[in-house]
Amino acid sequence: MLPRCAISVCHVFVLVLCLSSAEDFDWTKNDHGSFYYGTFPAGFSWGAGSSAYQTEGAWDKDGKGLSIWDVFSHKKGKIQQNDTGDSSCEGYHKIKDDVGLMKELKLNHYRFSISWPRLIPTGIKSDHINEKGIQYYNELIDHLLENKITPIVTLYHWDLPQFLQERYGGWQNISMVNHFNEFANLCFERFGNRIKYWMTFNNPWSVAVEGYETGEHAPGLRLRGTGAYKAAHHIIKAHAKVWHTYDTQWRAKQKGLVGISLSGDWGEPVDITNQKDIEAAERYVQFYLGWFATPIFHGDYPQVMKDFIGRKSVQQGLGTSRLPSFSPQEKSYIKGTCDFLGVGHFTTRYITQKNHPSARSSSSYFTDRDLAELVDPRWPDPGSEWLYSVPWGFRRLLNFVKSQYGNPMIYVTENGVSEKMLCTELCDDWRIQYFKDYTNEMLKAIKDGVNVKGYTAWSLLDKFEWDEGYSERFGLYYVDFRNKNKPRYPKASVQFYKRIISSNGFPNQREVENWRRKAVETCSTSNQLLAADPLTSHMEMVTEIVVPTVCTLSILLSAVFLMFLLRRRN
Ligand code: NOJ
Repeated sequence: MLPRCAISVCHVFVLVLCLSSAEDFDWTKNDHGSFYYGTFPAGFSWGAGSSAYQTEGAWDKDGKGLSIWDVFSHKKGKIQQNDTGDSSCEGYHKIKDDVGLMKELKLNHYRFSISWPRLIPTGIKSDHINEKGIQYYNELIDHLLENKITPIVTLYHWDLPQFLQERYGGWQNISMVNHFNEFANLCFERFGNRIKYWMTFNNPWSVAVEGYETGEHAPGLRLRGTGAYKAAHHIIKAHAKVWHTYDTQWRAKQKGLVGISLSGDWGEPVDITNQKDIEAAERYVQFYLGWFATPIFHGDYPQVMKDFIGRKSVQQGLGTSRLPSFSPQEKSYIKGTCDFLGVGHFTTRYITQKNHPSARSSSSYFTDRDLAELVDPRWPDPGSEWLYSVPWGFRRLLNFVKSQYGNPMIYVTENGVSEKMLCTELCDDWRIQYFKDYTNEMLKAIKDGVNVKGYTAWSLLDKFEWDEGYSERFGLYYVDFRNKNKPRYPKASVQFYKRIISSNGFPNQREVENWRRKAVETCSTSNQLLAADPLTSHMEMVTEIVVPTVCTLSILLSAVFLMFLLRRRN
């Protein structure tokens, strides 16, 4: 996700570009072929995802400790509308309901994350283990398995125990490696008999850049030019350590796989005949997904990161690079620590070369890359400011992963699109279009030989969207956050995704068009239910508050009246 200021700069660029070079720049050069009708390989796994802080709620229930997101979201001005994840979708109390929705979709897998402070309130295992937290995840896992849904578990989806942040500075401190390893080991011990797919981290790019560089995310630190690199360095080491722990202590018995989920936008050169743009686009992807994938698959940071950050650091008069380095032992320890790669992907940018001044005061991850990001004003952007629908970028990113990292086994761990809060429209035609086109590009990538084994639609439910609060909805199911019961309503995309799953792909044009038509027809009924919801909430208020109050008052008044009558008689 881009910081807002960068987005505005982007928009200006787009305008300038459109005005100045509309004739010589052909935006349509990337009209990327037609729809591919066909099926996915047998056994392809279809799923949907969520994460603990975004959906569970119950932030202070049953002995859970505070996470950095609990604290960050309670600070005024950090989150849109000052929303918090305190109750969110109340997923903690709705295991059965939510697994019911997954069954309705006929999902093969469900991706969720485990909240570290729910299991270990301070983050330090020797302090205390919260058995009630263990019990919650046991119930969730068992219920999924009873319903033949494979759990895919992320160990860290951004909710670091607050205590570790306060005492050590969180991911700025190397001690996180051991604390995280102990937490992971506890999860392997308690849940590993039933979990076969583990991911250490979700989207460490965001943790590093938004948590420690721009400060838009918890813990909200702005350590420009150094914070993100340091956090990432420790995260990569923590990932490798957990992989080795599993490999040496649990793999033989539990026979599971350990991977990591990396996010990456695709970067396409603005001018494919210009070598500088080609290199800038390559840099964009290397600074994004490559930052984490290259050490994990090849043992060290991408050469281009070492070169650019190293050169800028020298120009800034620093003795060493702001990008930390791995020792030879660390390189061989980290290399190859990935049984499968999780890929989270939402959008694409056009990239052009742009030199940024090397002044020390303006050093940052963003200026280190020497590039500018642009968007095609015709790309649809139905929801989040940063999310343009560019399906062909997905196929390119998947092929990039194949060619750079030796065609690893891939699970797509996140892909989806949002809508604005004010839109209570369940007939989400644009999401149908997004899923249809993106999954189709994934199918083409599989035909190209990319080893994609599964796809996770993001997300099962509308939920807390980090610094955007509840203002952006990614769910297949609409959640009515105004109602304290947080009821769920299927959007039209539920019907459409269900069809893709049951056909394991796209049989032919007529059928796929039919799915779409039917999906949009049925959603109007759900829309009526949702429209009636304020009325239902109103009725609930009447039965829960007004009726009991009126009754109590009447009883009291009658008692007073009776006493008055009796007194008069005496
Ligand atoms: C990636 C994050 O992992 C996820 O939590 C978030 O909801 C999506 N991006 C959409 O912003």
